[in-house]
Amino acid sequence: EKGTYPHYMLKEIDEQPFVIRNIIQQYQNEDGTIRLDDDIRDAMKQSDRIYVIAAGTSYHAGLVGKQLIEKIAKRPVEVHIASEFLYNMPLLSENPLFIFISQSGETADLRGVLVEVKKHGYQALTITNVPGSTLSREADFTLHTFAGPEIAVASTKAYTAQMAVFTLLAVDTANAQGIELDFDPLQELGIVANAMEVLTDQKEKLEKIARHYLAVSRNAFFIGRAADYYVCLEGALKLKEISYIQAEGFAGGELKHGTIALIEDGTPVIALATQEHVNLSIRGNVKEVAARGASPCIISMEGMNEETDAFVIPAVHEFLTPLVSVLPLQLIAYYAALHRDCDVDKPRNLAKSVTVE
Ligand code: M6R
Repeated sequence: EKGTYPHYMLKEIDEQPFVIRNIIQQYQNEDGTIRLDDDIRDAMKQSDRIYVIAAGTSYHAGLVGKQLIEKIAKRPVEVHIASEFLYNMPLLSENPLFIFISQSGETADLRGVLVEVKKHGYQALTITNVPGSTLSREADFTLHTFAGPEIAVASTKAYTAQMAVFTLLAVDTANAQGIELDFDPLQELGIVANAMEVLTDQKEKLEKIARHYLAVSRNAFFIGRAADYYVCLEGALKLKEISYIQAEGFAGGELKHGTIALIEDGTPVIALATQEHVNLSIRGNVKEVAARGASPCIISMEGMNEETDAFVIPAVHEFLTPLVSVLPLQLIAYYAALHRDCDVDKPRNLAKSVTVE
């Protein structure tokens, strides 16, 4: 039930800090170590390459998941859009492990790949919010995202939950290989939950940003580099899906290769700056678009923010910034849709779970 909330989407955005805390609890042993099935640990350890298969927002979580596993557990990962995988099939490694990410666990495009993969005898792990779902039943292993039912068509809390579970999977795989980490993942996820709470308390500010930048615009761009780029893809999808504003997320460095031609007077460009090592270069990209008339809105992270930034996110571990930087983008999309009188929870032409290929 959405209770006093006007929309499920807003409720689900607000639930994110609790979801992260729930995940910490569900996957924690009494001695504070991470609890994952031995079978999953073995499958991760034995595989020589991981293939992540997903669609939409879950695909975007997979892109972040790839970075987490590669950086923390040092295992190679490829991420594929489910609907394309069988047509543009990569050359598989000798011992692949497939990870299917799906909030609903019912997405037909993923199932098509899972059926094919099982025919070849490969192992499959499903990361889902619905443990009894088709993809969960048909895979060898399941990791539950514990986000609670997600009703709004636009996925919010499932996305952050998927990335949190990926973090734990990456850390568990690192532990299993004896890789020493210089951070405490559960503590860092706790800091993420606190940061999310700070963000959900700043709705008025984000509502104003949505009004200022997006009230009348027909299009919008999201730019970022490194992990921020992946979050920009998600920010753009969220905005398209519920406000019908044509939005594109792209890598800051790609601007000069074509997209910058689209910048006109007043074009909103939302830039994410949460990654120290690319802070200067993304700010350089902002200057390039501003010089061509764009209306830039910089969302940065504490510690690398500048006075003119529109919004500042509390600092979290550099690997985990996507879990928090997406919140302002979710809320901006929400308010942009609201200002345009769109049906936030049930956008046109869309279904919550896509059960046709
Ligand atoms: O249930 P799934 O995670 O498999 O769904 C995948 C996509 O259909 C889904 O994420 C879709 O992109 C959302 N409506 C985005 O908000």
